[in-house]
Amino acid sequence: MTKSKQLFNRACQVIPGGVNSPVRAFGSVDAEPIFISSAKDAIMQTVDGQNLIDFCSSWGPLILGHAPDVITKAINDAAVKGTSYGVNTPGEVEIAELIVKQIPAIEKVRLVSSGTEATMTALRLARGATGRNKILKFDGCYHGHHDSLLVSAGSGLLTTGTSSSAGVSDTVVADTLLCPYNDINAVKEIFNKYGSEIAAIIVEPVAGNMGLIKPIEGFLETLRTITKQNNALLIFDEVICGFRFCAGAYSNICNIKPDITCMGKIIGGGLPIGAIGGSATVMDNLSPLGAVYQAGTLSGNPIAVATGIAVMQTLIDTNPYPKLEEKARAISEGLNDMAKKKGIELCSEQYGSVFTPFFSNKAPNNLKDVQKIDTKKYARFFTSMLKQNIYLPPSQFELAFINTKHTDEHIEKYLEAANVALDLIN
Ligand SMILES: Cc1ncc(COP(=O)(O)O)c(C=O)c1O
Repeated sequence: MTKSKQLFNRACQVIPGGVNSPVRAFGSVDAEPIFISSAKDAIMQTVDGQNLIDFCSSWGPLILGHAPDVITKAINDAAVKGTSYGVNTPGEVEIAELIVKQIPAIEKVRLVSSGTEATMTALRLARGATGRNKILKFDGCYHGHHDSLLVSAGSGLLTTGTSSSAGVSDTVVADTLLCPYNDINAVKEIFNKYGSEIAAIIVEPVAGNMGLIKPIEGFLETLRTITKQNNALLIFDEVICGFRFCAGAYSNICNIKPDITCMGKIIGGGLPIGAIGGSATVMDNLSPLGAVYQAGTLSGNPIAVATGIAVMQTLIDTNPYPKLEEKARAISEGLNDMAKKKGIELCSEQYGSVFTPFFSNKAPNNLKDVQKIDTKKYARFFTSMLKQNIYLPPSQFELAFINTKHTDEHIEKYLEAANVALDLIN
């Protein structure tokens, strides 16, 4: 029996489902979960000694790869000075100044400890600022695991076949309205009906939790216009997008200014962090200035802050984005060419340094399209890739991430392995 299997058996005795986050159980790819002992650069080592080229990058935060010197140094330097004080630190001011400088949509920012906390706070802030209750979200967008957004959510909830979670009361989600992603008319209809009651729209500006779905032309622009017309707020959930496509937010790229931006992942460089930012007028509704309560024992934790600054500063100084994109495009186009030659239905979608190979003959536009895809094909692809030492996100409905430690050789290895895996998917 492998060491991973032994550990999973032990884990199942003491951890629900043997995992601390559901997708790690590998349920949607019909595979045995693996356990990692260490990782460096683009390589993760399993407890069984297998060296895997990692294309998941801890679900996005590790844009500089595993344990880069700049991060381990920042962690060590911060840790010896104390791990938490529960009192203000210079680092918190520095990281806030850095975020405000890099993201024109943000004038003030509050730190929390996860992306979930960021979106949860953003909704409360939007409701507090507008005095309204309803929130519009999009089918298949995932904003973390707090109650009001666990309606038609993506990510792990897509693959478990649960459209919303047990334990969420009807009254909590009664104020959550839903539209298909990229459906401008549906948004207009919802606003015609509920416009004066809607506090905010929350959206992943590039959707990543149904696999990669890019916003169609005019979609985000419509969200901006319609929220302004109805005195509602626009929330961009940039937990994945923040510092992923440029040294700032996706709002820098699309030139649409949301009222509130949620962030996480990269801005903590692999340590727990989240952030909510926006205009000073909106943000000043937060306690202690305003009436919207929000707090956290470990918010602005000095080690996470030091790591976040180190990562963001490296991204600003080195601008790795064009090279990251080149590598993601090489894989995505390589997959599409290969599949075409083999007569396999596959459409790999790519934007910047992220991509998703959909086992479908056309790129999906929304959750309904995504749900037509036969996920068994991705499961077989995943398993074959894993056997060939390539680690992919363990679900069809997630993003693969390129990091700065992926070399041309890693990209070639991915494509060589895919050449074998694609022959096994039917
Ligand atoms: C777009 C988006 N928002 C929010 C979250 C929740 O972040 P966290 O897992 O840090 O709570 C995620 C997590 O993957 C996400 O992808």
